[in-house]
Amino acid sequence: MREITVHLGPRSYPVVVGIGALSSVGERLRTLGGGSKVALVSDRSVMRLHGPRVTESVRAAGFALTHVIVPEGESAKALAVAERCWDELLAAGMDRTSTVLALGGGAIGDLAGFVAATYMRGVNVVQLPTTVLAQVDASIGGKTAIDHPRAKNLIGAFHQPRLVLVDPGAVVTLPDREFRSGLAEVVKHGIVADAAYFVEVEQHTALLLARDLPTLERIIGGSCRIKASVVERDEQEAELRAVLNYGHTIGHALEAVTEYGRWAHGEAVSIGIAVAARLAHRLGYASLETVVRQERLLEALGLPVRLPDVDHAAVLAAIGRDKKSRDGKVPFVFAPRIGEFRLVFDVPTDAVRAVLAELTHAALAR
Ligand SMILES: NC(=O)c1ccc[n+]([C@@H]2O[C@H](COP(=O)([O-])OP(=O)(O)OC[C@H]3O[C@@H](n4cnc5c(N)ncnc54)[C@H](O)[C@@H]3O)[C@@H](O)[C@H]2O)c1
Ligand SMILES: [Zn+2]
Repeated sequence: MREITVHLGPRSYPVVVGIGALSSVGERLRTLGGGSKVALVSDRSVMRLHGPRVTESVRAAGFALTHVIVPEGESAKALAVAERCWDELLAAGMDRTSTVLALGGGAIGDLAGFVAATYMRGVNVVQLPTTVLAQVDASIGGKTAIDHPRAKNLIGAFHQPRLVLVDPGAVVTLPDREFRSGLAEVVKHGIVADAAYFVEVEQHTALLLARDLPTLERIIGGSCRIKASVVERDEQEAELRAVLNYGHTIGHALEAVTEYGRWAHGEAVSIGIAVAARLAHRLGYASLETVVRQERLLEALGLPVRLPDVDHAAVLAAIGRDKKSRDGKVPFVFAPRIGEFRLVFDVPTDAVRAVLAELTHAALAR
């Protein structure tokens, strides 16, 4: 087991990464010193696959456990679902000392975190992420949200968990596409934050794709460490936390123009990384070799780095509507070298247009 502390003063918490970690949740809850009531929030699939271990561990440690089953995927992040969760917590007699466990992907983590942030002005939440994306990204950092009919993640709160338990063994049951999609965030962490980690991922693509457990533990643990260090240096998402948006300016735009139907999030981010990398090269911030290494690793992990059949004008318009834009300018994160980042505010639209065109044609000069 590897333990990483997210240092945030009185709100500090451990991220525990280890095969079998889910079976230790009961004992760990005892050391947190909360009340006797616990609610386990999950969806039907995840509950069936990984719920029994958690349930057994929590009950064996003497807690009164209530199961709260919510819809799968993004549809969990709705006000009506949050309301039903509040009702169920109330019906179970949960009070300010009670704890919410979020077992599932990022959608469950966001919803359950939001419910915990708001129920009685805030109760403890413990994140038990079961997708790669949730393990290396969503479960760490305290961002919680539900969606508004007009925009994703519009209604939310910062609410740090008391504990994050990452069991890399849980991702073995993920569908292949979901698994690979999460790896885009792993690659992102290496590119903007840690060159040695990037090399480690480069050297372990086959074992990673085979979901070799020790490899998963090492790579996922490394990614958690990177996310934790960014979060603790910049809790409320100012300049530094923007590095985590690498590949996301374009990625979000691609998801929006295809109405979230064509690419999984990580696939859109993967293409977004290719765009950002080429843009950085075109504008003189990065070498061609830096571009090629990023694309090669993404491709080796089965992630897309080309952009066929997309309306470029719609993509450019979507970039302009980005939540992060200020005074009509969208900050781009660039990687001048592997392991380094730089925020650039004045990226010319023409350059973005040219890179989109470049990535549309399959045969590319590298
Ligand atoms: N709070 C943050 O900082 C943050 C960061 C990134 C993303 N997010 C949010 O995360 C969400 C996406 O999360 P996601 O990619 O984990 O997808 P998801 O939560 O939508 O889950 C995808 C599917 O995977 C299934 N699943 C989960 N774990 C499984 C397992 N171990 N085996 C088999 N199936 C399993 C779920 O039932 C679900 O159907 C988005 O809502 C996004 O906004 C939040
Ligand atoms: Zn992402």
